[in-house]
Amino acid sequence: MTPSDARSRPIIEVKNIRKEYPIGDETVVALKHINLNVMRGEICCIFGTSGSGKSTLLNQLAGMEKPTRGEVLIGGVPISRLNENQLASFRQRHLGFVFQSYNLLPNLTATENVAMPLLFRGVPKAQREAAARKLLCRVGLSHRLDHFPRQMSGGQQQRAGIARAFIARPDVVFADEPTGNLDSKTTVEIMNMICTFARDYHQTIILVTHDPEMASYAHRIVTLIDGEIVSNQVNNKEKSRHET
Ligand SMILES: Nc1ncnc2c1ncn2[C@@H]1O[C@H](COP(=O)(O)OP(=O)(O)OP(=O)(O)O)[C@@H](O)[C@H]1O
Ligand SMILES: [Mg+2]
Repeated sequence: MTPSDARSRPIIEVKNIRKEYPIGDETVVALKHINLNVMRGEICCIFGTSGSGKSTLLNQLAGMEKPTRGEVLIGGVPISRLNENQLASFRQRHLGFVFQSYNLLPNLTATENVAMPLLFRGVPKAQREAAARKLLCRVGLSHRLDHFPRQMSGGQQQRAGIARAFIARPDVVFADEPTGNLDSKTTVEIMNMICTFARDYHQTIILVTHDPEMASYAHRIVTLIDGEIVSNQVNNKEKSRHET
């Protein structure tokens, strides 16, 4: 593949995936024949009501679960065929995550939490903590560098969560309802932060939400109903372009 092919090839390719969960004698079909391409640098929103299959789709895209059928490729790598060790290493090198519940490690300071992904990349302590402090300052936490998660507000923890997701410059950042526990003013701040990082580093974001306001930040909005994509639209009015 030539470099220009690599640039024009979607960073995420979803090929006809289906996800079934066996429950006793029954089978829940959470996703039905999903096909989707996401381009590098795109903020792609997976949008839909509760139970429509958003988190299930994100879990298949991020390699957290294996689809029952079909295949997911990230950067051309068929992640649904990797074993657990290969997947863990692929995730550490290429993917970042922002969680609704922040998921910071309670016994580490903000700086240590944010520096963690660089530890997996073999970056020396002084260097990774300097990078973490710099990013924490960028997200407005210069006064909370040595605080533990329990000493920070929800919005502050999520800013640290975002710094942690982006610090190692992963190819794709996955965010499942990242502002689900935050007020509307903090939601706008957090969304602007995610969009700014994505734009500055030309990173791809997969954003799961049921909130049309949050979906409006995306370049592409993929709507799910009952495990099926019912629309896949480019959003020309996306806020990430106009407001940050
Ligand atoms: N591990 C599982 N076992 C069985 N069924 C599951 C499992 N995970 C999800 N489901 C089912 O798959 C469907 C889609 O669930 P999913 O969590 O993807 O929805 P969602 O769109 O993320 O909803 P929400 O907005 O409430 O988070 C639901 O009907 C759910 O009950
Ligand atoms: Mg969900």
